[in-house]
Parts: sequence; C-alpha cells; structure tokens
Amino acid sequence: MAESMKGLRRTHRCGELSGANIGETVTIMGWVQKNRNKGGLVFVDVRDRAGMIQVVFEEGRSEEALIEKAAKLRAEYVVAVTGRVEKRAGAVNENLATGEIEIIPDELRVLSESETPPFPIEENVKTKEEVRLKYRYLDLRRPDMQRTLMMRSRVATLTRQFLAEKGFLEIETPVLIGSTPEGARDYLVPSRIHQGHFYALPQSPQLFKQLLMCSGCDRYFQLAKCFRDEDLRADRQPEFTQIDMELSFVDVDDVIDVNERLLARIFKEVLGKEIPLPIPRMTWQEAMDRYGSDKPDIRFGMELQNVTEVVKNCGFAVFKGAIEQGGTVRGINAKGQGAMPRKKIDKLVEFAKGYGAKGLAYIALQEDGAVKSSFAKFMTEEEMGALIEAMKGENGDLLLFAADQNKVVWDVLGALRLELARQMELVDKNDYRFLWVTEFPLLEWSEEQDRFVAMHHPFTMPMEEDLPFIDSDPGRVRAKAYDIVLNGTELGGGSVRIFNPEIQNKMFEVLGFTPEQAKEQFGFLLTAFKYGVPPHAGLAYGFDRLIMLMAKQESIRDVIAFPKIKDASDLMTEAPTRVDEKQLEELGLVIREEK
Ligand code: AMO
Ligand code: AMP
Repeated sequence: MAESMKGLRRTHRCGELSGANIGETVTIMGWVQKNRNKGGLVFVDVRDRAGMIQVVFEEGRSEEALIEKAAKLRAEYVVAVTGRVEKRAGAVNENLATGEIEIIPDELRVLSESETPPFPIEENVKTKEEVRLKYRYLDLRRPDMQRTLMMRSRVATLTRQFLAEKGFLEIETPVLIGSTPEGARDYLVPSRIHQGHFYALPQSPQLFKQLLMCSGCDRYFQLAKCFRDEDLRADRQPEFTQIDMELSFVDVDDVIDVNERLLARIFKEVLGKEIPLPIPRMTWQEAMDRYGSDKPDIRFGMELQNVTEVVKNCGFAVFKGAIEQGGTVRGINAKGQGAMPRKKIDKLVEFAKGYGAKGLAYIALQEDGAVKSSFAKFMTEEEMGALIEAMKGENGDLLLFAADQNKVVWDVLGALRLELARQMELVDKNDYRFLWVTEFPLLEWSEEQDRFVAMHHPFTMPMEEDLPFIDSDPGRVRAKAYDIVLNGTELGGGSVRIFNPEIQNKMFEVLGFTPEQAKEQFGFLLTAFKYGVPPHAGLAYGFDRLIMLMAKQESIRDVIAFPKIKDASDLMTEAPTRVDEKQLEELGLVIREEK
C-alpha cells in the first residue's frame, strides 16, 4: 500500500551524503536498488539521480516491525527513509561514493510499489535497444543515462551563461513556418483554418535569425528544435537541437573566435579538458586532399597521397584510363599492414566498392623485401619503385590505391582511412581534436536535379576574390562558410551571409530560381534587406552531437531523452499514429492510400 510523505521533507539526495554528515539525522527518498535479507539484518540500497546509499535495518537498533517491512521491499519500490548517518560497521565500499557511511533508520515509508521491471535498472545493461526505448522512462533511471542527461543540462546552462556574458540575446523563433524546398525534406503540418495550406516545421531558424539581425538584435542565440525529414543514422534524428547563433557587424574570424572560447569553456568546465586555442584551421581543399573528407579525424595520420603525376604514363590501364578521363590516382599507406592476409585485403576491396570504387589496387610490401601486388604485372620495375617511393612505402607496409574522379577517390580513401584506423586501433578515445574547415565550395552540382545547389544554404556569401567567376565558372567559387569538426564528426557549421541584394539575386539565379520563385519563397527576407541590413554571420552546432562526443556515446539516441528509431517512429508513444476521420475532415484531408 502506498503511504503518503506527509510530514516528511527530503533533506539530501542519496548520493550527496558523505562522511561529513555522520551523526546527522537525514531524510532521503528514492528507488530501492536491492535489499539483502540476512535474517534480522536487512541491507537496503536506495538510489536517486545523485547516487546510492545503504540503509541498515538491524535487530537491536531498529524496531522489529521496521525490519519486517524492509524485508518485504522489492526492486524499484519508491521509499522514504529517515535515520541517522553513521560510519559503516562493515567494510568500506570503495566502488560507492557513499561507501564509508550508512543510514540507521528510524522510519521507513513505502511511497509506491513497483512491478518487476522488464530489465534491471543498472549501469551498462545489455538489454536490446528496442526494449530500452519502449520503456524509456525506466532506461533513463539507469545511472549512465542520468549522468548523460545531467551533462546535457550542464552544457546548456554553460552555453546560456557564456553567450549572455558575450552580449547575446536568447530569442525564440516560430516552429510553425512556411515551407521552403531548399535543403532537406520538410515536416508539414496541415492548417485547419486555411484548408489545403500547410505549415512546415523549421529545419533551422536560419531565415528568422537573419531577420533578427535586420531588427537590430545584434547578437542572437537559441537552443532551437529543428526538424528534418531525412534518412536517419547514428548521428541524425528527425528532430534535434541546435545551439544556434547569429552576429551582426562581424566576419569569419569574429564568429570563430567567440565559438572557440565557448567550446574551450564547456570542455574545461564539464570534462576538465584544456582545448588549446586557437583551434587549427584547414581549407576544404586541403581537407579533401589530405584526408578525403570535409570532416577529417585528425587524431591520426595515414594521409592520402596524390600519385597522379607518378603513374600518369605507367602501363596499368586502370590508372591511365582514370587520369585520361580527368580523374586522379591517390593512395594511402597502412603502416605495418603488409602481411595482411589476402582474404582481409579482399574485404577492404569490397568495403571500397561500397563507397563507389570500381576496385582497389594494392601493393603489400613484405618484411623480407618481396612485393605482392594486384597490378605489378602491368608495371615496370622502375614504375613500381617510383610509386612505392612516392608513398613512402617501407618493408611491411600496405599501400592502397583508388583511381577515379576526385569525388569518388576522396570518398573511398576517406572512408578506408577511417576503417583501417579502426582495425589498427590508431585512435586514442580520450583525445579531443577540434578543427575548423573553411572555404567550402559555394555550390555543388546535383546530378539528380541537373543544376547547382547551395553547399551550405542560398544565403551564404561567396569569397570576394571568387565573385568574378560566379557566371563563368560557378563551380570554382568558394564560400565564406566554415564547419567545426571534432574527431571526424561535423559538430556545427555556419557562414557569413549575403547582405547585398545584387549578390543575393545573383545567387538565386545561379541556383536556377526565377525572380518570381525567389520572391515567393524568400520575399520577406529580400524586402527586409531593403531597409538597412547589417553585415552578419552565424553558426549552429548540433547540440546532440556535441553531447554524444562529450559523453563518448556512439549514437545521438543515447543523449536524447526520448529519441526516435530508424524509421522515425517512437517505440514508447507509438507516434506517428493514425488520426480519426473527424480530425481529417476538419483539416479537409482524405487519405488516398496507406503504404
Ligand atoms: P546545418 O544544416 O549545417 O546548418 O546544421 C548545423 C548542425 O546541426 C547538426 N545537424 C543534425 N543533428 C542531428 N540530426 C540531424 N538530422 C541534423 N542535421 C544537422 C549538425 C550540423 O553541423 N542554419 C544553418 C547554420 C548556420 O548557417 O548558421 C544550419 O542549420 O551538427
Ligand atoms: P583488373 O585488371 O580489373 O583485375 O584490376 C586490377 C586491380 O586494379 C584489382 O586489384 C582491382 O581491384 C584494381 N582496380 C580496378 N579498378 C580500380 C580503380 N578504379 N581504382 C583502383 N584500383 C582499381
């Protein structure tokens, strides 16, 4: 039977008690972790978000009725205990923060009972994720999940404090907005009053934060919910949170400077880690050339080598052909992997094909100086020698090559580099290596849409020195855009914005918008720009990704209280759900077919 907590007031959280409280009478409330009944002696561990404390019911020290009551407690009952804190009679538990003390109770109340939970509420359970997510409220009771939620809250608070100190205003922007086709797919919300019309949920507060700059807010930030209907992955959820900001009267260096200090503050205060400032910067071109990725993990080397010049006249048709088609040949040197068995190399070839490679050529340099290679028979000895030298190959190394258009070569070797580092255990998991990637291309060719699309978004400012090519060679124009990368994950991105209507109109033109389309979708922004727009720039972090990396988790699902699974559904509430006919009717909607 559930008892009331009338007359009781919690004095401490379980995990907050320590030797300093010895002799005090305290009241704790929490969940029973377990009880051990040794006949006349009952040990009950009580847990709350701060930790665990042992309560000892013992003949001679507690009333018999109390001991009997304690013996009946079961896991996850919610209890209140009042008693005296004493030094442990038994051995100190080194594994518990409260391990040198215990509570000798005067009173025990059962505030609520619990059925046997579907999985034990303890750290590192091996329970399947589907079960954990169905009973997420129980999963979140586990100490590791509680720590993550507390870390997330702490980072949010620090962010607010830091940005407020730097003169940022926290301003909310709407969640029901108009749909814009650029970017990912929108989530749509039907309007009841305007039948046949839809709101979209924001993919980011981008347009509104730029308008706030037009409004003279000067510096804005928000912990903003964003919604994108895209394929989910470990670091992508349909709804996620950004630390979003925008600043007026600034350029690239100003945005980078304030954000470096924000990151350094968070890492110092939450993880005790010093982030050496300034954070290194690398242009997009250099990142692609050296790492085959625009979000390189710089905790290890194994950089790509461009060997196009070395092999352009060699006898191997695969290399020569790719170069003649305008492609390149690049390689990586997996140090000390020359003895890798053929089967394992074949697996790497399959892996590479998964990233679009037509094949993967290799040279395995044996310790005794012998050379095993998939293409040596097409090469002269001099050509092989020159290639091995260009790759700084030594006995015992494995050299892997991809030949294709740049984009494919980068994708393949960039992914292979990460896979090999994983296999070779090259990465120190306690190392945090930040990197700014700058000077992204402004545009990227979309085969699917047969037109240029904005690499970041249509409001990103081209680099001034590249403006002359915007008509003649749009593909070579670089943008004043930057990403902040941590250990190979894109943590955030932003740009300096176009604030000049001529450049903005030019941008829409290059993206294939007619002036009418541009006006229809972004008219309010273009109009706002006519009334005195300050130069402005901004950035947004994936807040979930930041916490994922700080908490050393593999997926952002582990740092979001109530996440969705791969098919964008919620296993606990079972959203999305059908709605009844009446609701559809009010909205003027008919379901044509259900897939
Ligand atoms: P961008 O689209 O690069 O920029 O998004 C910024 C950051 O948000 C995170 N992110 C996601 N996190 C979880 N799930 C997702 N589906 C997801 N999509 C993005 C990433 C990313 O770096 N308005 C611009 C920012 C600006 O220009 O100021 C924007 O949204 O960590
Ligand atoms: P083949 O002559 O097709 O048997 O190819 C010889 C070797 O070149 C094999 O190891 C293939 O995996 C490899 N190869 C084929 N196409 C490419 C390519 N585009 N880039 C790198 N290696 C390739």
